[in-house]
Amino acid sequence: MTNRTYFIRTFGCQMNEHDSERAAGVLETMGYRPAPDPESAGLVLFNTCAIRENADNKLYGQLSHLKPLKLADPAKTIVVGGCLAQKDQGAIAARAPWVDVVYGTHNMGSLPQLLAQADSAALPVVEILEHTQMFPSALPARREVRHHAWVSISIGCDNTCTFCIVPLLRGPEKSRMLGDIVAEVCELVADGVTEVTLLGQNVNSYGRDLVRADPGPGRRNRTLFAELLHALGEVPGLERVRFTSPHPKDFTSDVFAAMRDVPNVCEQLHLPLQSGSDRILRRMQRSYRSSRYLDLVAEARATIPGVAISTDVIVGFPGETEDDFDDTLRVAGAAAFDAAFTFKYSKRPGTAAVSLDGHVAAAVMDQRFLRLAELTRSLSAASHARQVGTVQELLIEGPSKTDPARMSGRTRENRLVHVPATAAARPGALVNARLTDAAAHYLLGEVTDAPAGRAVPTAPPPRTLPDGQNGDLTAVLPAARP
Ligand code: SAH
Ligand code: SF4
Ligand code: F3S
Repeated sequence: MTNRTYFIRTFGCQMNEHDSERAAGVLETMGYRPAPDPESAGLVLFNTCAIRENADNKLYGQLSHLKPLKLADPAKTIVVGGCLAQKDQGAIAARAPWVDVVYGTHNMGSLPQLLAQADSAALPVVEILEHTQMFPSALPARREVRHHAWVSISIGCDNTCTFCIVPLLRGPEKSRMLGDIVAEVCELVADGVTEVTLLGQNVNSYGRDLVRADPGPGRRNRTLFAELLHALGEVPGLERVRFTSPHPKDFTSDVFAAMRDVPNVCEQLHLPLQSGSDRILRRMQRSYRSSRYLDLVAEARATIPGVAISTDVIVGFPGETEDDFDDTLRVAGAAAFDAAFTFKYSKRPGTAAVSLDGHVAAAVMDQRFLRLAELTRSLSAASHARQVGTVQELLIEGPSKTDPARMSGRTRENRLVHVPATAAARPGALVNARLTDAAAHYLLGEVTDAPAGRAVPTAPPPRTLPDGQNGDLTAVLPAARP
């Protein structure tokens, strides 16, 4: 009897996690069931990422681990899909000929046919399309978590950030109809979901293509993205709405207003900065400048009480000097980020940045990376410390990864909190917790009957910047949290 079980390993971003849920849904409709590990699974699928070079290396490393398993059991099916498959195409089959199927970012729906072809083929079956066959949301999904769902509102990206390979791999931006999104969310809520995260490479340009295609009567007074947030605010039983990622150049005040006015839209903003140097932002073809970025941060903090702001930053982009890097430290300090994801620049073949001059030496990049990490760590520690003593609503996710006696949950601002594992703190439950201790990456708390209040800061955001550069920053510093 053939082993119809599957194991999926996902690399990369939330879009990929969501794509993996779709791949699992497709496999389950074919009669496959989950397996606990790649060794015992009849089918192993790697959903790949190509955003940085180490993502490439990781995949090839993992594929070589599978080779002896495939040799021992030739009936085992090995599938490689997603962004790196789109980028490397035939090269995967050439480097790892024990792979059975390779598919790209536009054709997950063909998985059943590709698997059928692989059954009778001696060589790997490779199908990479240049354009999306169908919106992936039309495929069934098997969700990892019962109460949370990813919902894609657009696919692809129309921007030209010079470091980024995503537009080459995911194609041009294409928005989903607003009514289809709301209908999917209603179905998810009927199925027990209380929290959704809206996904798009640039969520606040959502719907521009739809409006271009059908401008509708008269002028709209809200962007379609703000419209969508308001529409989701009307869905009964939907407790929390998050979204990722907006682009600073497209951010409009109506989205801040929606985050303030629509009760289920969480006070969480992920706003990628990339660099604090205007010269580097220009070379990155990110069309906002640091002052505009800090204005957005100030507007968010002034409009949305308690908002937590996180970011992405790249260090060592070609041409980045010590002065440029100091600008990044300065802007990060001024923005008082609550959390930050920091990356060393990685050369991606096919992107414009590869041919820029001034590539930064690895040792310099390492040293800048550590300096930035030290700053962002102290900013998140300070942000967490300001929460101690407050009572906040937690959505419990599950047992803590490091301590089974604790359950982990998230505040509306997406802060990770561990509480003692009691009957009330079961996965999917909304509880109130009094926050008692803070570390850089998490908080500790205990479940309480006390009502949740908005976070009340005990101290203003830290304003000590490296090298004593506090000088003229007061004008751009965000207001202390109300
Ligand atoms: N569409 C999202 C970003 C997707 S990629 C947005 O614009 O916000 C996620 C993050 O990876 C980016 O924000 C960037 O900080 C980082 N990244 C992308 N390409 C990179 C590269 N070549 N080297 C290093 N980091 C990169
Ligand atoms: Fe990449 Fe820029 Fe598009 Fe984000 S907005 S996916 S960084 S090109
Ligand atoms: Fe995401 Fe990686 Fe593709 S970050 S869009 S999975 S290249």
